Amino acid sequence: MNKPNILFIGAGRMAEAIFAGLKQPNTIGTITISNQSDQERLEQLKDTYEVETASWQEVISDHEVIILAMPPSAHPAVLAELANKVDNQFIITVAAGIGPSVLEEALPNRPTAWIMPNTAADIGESMSLFACGKHVLSEHREVLQTILYAIGESTELTEEQIHHLTAVTGSAPAFVYHMAESLEITAKSYGLSTDVARKLVVQMIYGSASMLKDGREAGDLRDQVTTPGGATAAGLEVLENGNFSDLLHQAVLAVNAKAAEQAK
Ligand SMILES: NC(=O)c1ccc[n+]([C@@H]2O[C@H](COP(=O)([O-])OP(=O)(O)OC[C@H]3O[C@@H](n4cnc5c(N)ncnc54)[C@H](OP(=O)(O)O)[C@@H]3O)[C@@H](O)[C@H]2O)c1
Repeated sequence: MNKPNILFIGAGRMAEAIFAGLKQPNTIGTITISNQSDQERLEQLKDTYEVETASWQEVISDHEVIILAMPPSAHPAVLAELANKVDNQFIITVAAGIGPSVLEEALPNRPTAWIMPNTAADIGESMSLFACGKHVLSEHREVLQTILYAIGESTELTEEQIHHLTAVTGSAPAFVYHMAESLEITAKSYGLSTDVARKLVVQMIYGSASMLKDGREAGDLRDQVTTPGGATAAGLEVLENGNFSDLLHQAVLAVNAKAAEQAK
C-alpha cells in the first residue's frame, strides 16, 4: 500500500494519540479526521496537526485505511453504514471488545484488524495488543505496524487472548497508579510535601520499570534488594501475608469477568 490515506471516524483522545504519533510523512498520505458532532474539536485539531477534517461519509472513497476511534457502543450503527460504503479499505478499530470477528461479521471479506492500546498512547508509550482478520495481507500489516509504532510498542495475539490480556495491559496501569497513590500518601505521612512525595515515588517506579525493560528478571531484581531476614524482606512478608500475588490474579479475573458481562 503506497502512502495510504487514513480516515479517522472518531476524533477523541485515542485518535489524537495515533495521528499525533504518525510523523512519517513518507509512508502515510493524507490524514482526515471526523467525529459525530463536535466541530470545534475538529477545528482545534486541524490547527494543531497536519490533518484534514470532513464528514466521513463524503470522503470515504478517497481513503485506503479507516480507523474506527469511537466508543464501542457507536460501532454497530457505524459498521452497518460502512457496509454499504466501503470498497476494499482496510478497517481498523481501537475499541474495547470489538475484535476482527465482529468487524468481519459486519464487513465480510474485508481486511480488518483490532488494536487495543492503553492510555500511555498519549505519550507514545502504549503497550498495544493487536489481532488481524482473515483477509489481512502483508501490505495491510505494513501500514498497521506504522500505526502501532506511532503510539508505542505492540504484540500480536489472537482475538481471544486480547479479550483476556487487556486486563494486564489496559487495566493494570490503574493498579500501578493505585500503588503510586498509596506510596505517596505514606511518604507524605513522614512530613514530605506532595511534590517531593510524588517525585520519590515516580522516579522509583520509572527506575524499576527501566531495569525490567533492560531485560532483567523481576524475581532476580527483587532478590537483589532483599537480604534474607532483612528490612525489605520484612516488607515483602507483609505483602505475601496479605496474598499480594493472589490479589493481583483475582483483580485480573475480576476485570475479565466484568468485561465479559458488559460484552453481552
Ligand atoms: N483513551 C484510551 O486510553 C483508550 C484505550 C484503549 C481503547 N480506547 C478506545 O478508543 C475509542 C475512543 O476512545 P477515546 O478515549 O478517544 O474516546 P473520546 O475521547 O470520548 O472520543 C470519542 C470520539 O468518538 C466520536 N464518536 C462518538 N460516536 C460517534 C459516531 N456515532 N460517529 C462518529 N464519531 C463518533 C466522538 O465524537 P463527538 O465528540 O463529536 O461525539 C469523539 O470524537 C473507544 O472505543 C475506546 O474503547 C481508548
